[in-house]
Amino acid sequence: MSRIAYVNGRYMPHREAAVHVEDRGYQFSDGVYEVVLIRHGKMVDEAPHLVRLERSLGELQIKTPMSNAALRQVMAEVVRRNRITGNGLIYMQVTRGVAKRDHAFPANPQTSVVMTAKRLPEPSRTGVEDGVKAITIPDIRWERCDIKTVGLLASVLGKQQAREAGAYEALQVDSEGFVTEGTSSNAWIVTADGDLVTRRANNAILNGITRLTVLKLAERAGIRFVERPFTVEEAKGAREAFVTSATSLVKPVTQIDDTVIANGKAGGLSLQLFDAYLDYMTTDEARA
Ligand code: PDD
Repeated sequence: MSRIAYVNGRYMPHREAAVHVEDRGYQFSDGVYEVVLIRHGKMVDEAPHLVRLERSLGELQIKTPMSNAALRQVMAEVVRRNRITGNGLIYMQVTRGVAKRDHAFPANPQTSVVMTAKRLPEPSRTGVEDGVKAITIPDIRWERCDIKTVGLLASVLGKQQAREAGAYEALQVDSEGFVTEGTSSNAWIVTADGDLVTRRANNAILNGITRLTVLKLAERAGIRFVERPFTVEEAKGAREAFVTSATSLVKPVTQIDDTVIANGKAGGLSLQLFDAYLDYMTTDEARA
């Protein structure tokens, strides 16, 4: 079955889907994006993803392309046309549009919207239990990491460094030695006292939708959590570590650089949150 993409009002074969060479997303990274997980053919946390999209657009003064109701319709249609009935994801990119190249905003830009979807394998607990390796790298990004922009060069370079080191993710570290987040995920630890810790969401990190949901699930489960920064040293000495994102879900990290975390296996709280998140994905709450 051929894949279908949505490009500015048209559904077309994925291989033919294209935007103009003067799209400002292409020339200036002047755009934002969202990655929304699909579980059993339904979007997970679509509502908060759309809230974050609106916020990102607002911060960059990009005109909202259409109402949220219309965006939801297009997303559902992209899922339908790609016949995603199991697991998958939607990639949505919204840019300031096409204009003659000039750094300042064009006068009357027409916001561009592109959506693609693809299938993903079923999430499984095997693999999760073994955990993954992460490396640490300096955070060289700009000061508005709260905006989900398509300007991802620092993340691209960081992820490549992780690949080359045989690692799953690179944890970015600020000038004071605190972990900000992964290149495409939020970072968490569980302290020796059993506290769940993740950095408070401000302009230094992207406020992950998975992060918000995991915080909610942790609170419901009565798990003590603190939103505060933690250092690389603290992470290496932690009882557990994991990263979260729409595509990684809850992914235990069992090695950071050369340091094995605890006994080198996914920790109990990480697995509890993985299970809770998996259950959550098919609830009415997640599908609101
Ligand atoms: N990345 N931090 C960064 C820098 C990210 O790029 C992402 C997501 C997250 C987690 O956000 P969420 O839980 O909403 O997925 C945190 C997506 C998945 C990507 O770039 O593919």
